[in-house]
Amino acid sequence: MLLFLLALLAQEPAQLPPGEVLYNVRCKGCHAYGQPGIPQAEALKAMSAEAVIRSLERGNMKVMGSSLTAEEKRQVAEFVTAKPPGSFPSAARRP
Ligand code: HEC
Repeated sequence: MLLFLLALLAQEPAQLPPGEVLYNVRCKGCHAYGQPGIPQAEALKAMSAEAVIRSLERGNMKVMGSSLTAEEKRQVAEFVTAKPPGSFPSAARRP
């Protein structure tokens, strides 16, 4: 039983999408606890993935994005917006 639980624990990180792992480690501390002036999960979800990537590349989140690869920026943007780059934001906002 204990071994079974340990195996489950060991597997957990691998089951999370990479964007969610990045978000938990790099973004959540600021973006998930309702601090004034910081867009929360719902606000990020309303953005397009491109807008999040742009912010990480040369917008307000440039400093946070500077230590991420292009691939990681795409993954985290995909996770926070719940849509892949290239999807139309207006269509994705009202599923
Ligand atoms: C140190 C705290 C902090 C961390 C860490 C952080 N953010 Fe932010 N984020 C902010 C603040 C503060 C704002 C609001 C900036 C403003 O409006 O001037 C913001 C704004 C944003 C916006 C809105 C667009 C914009 O440019 O204002 C996006 C998208 C965003 N963050 C994404 C992320 C992502 C993705 C990560 C993780 C890679 C992240 N943030 C990590 C504090 C943080």
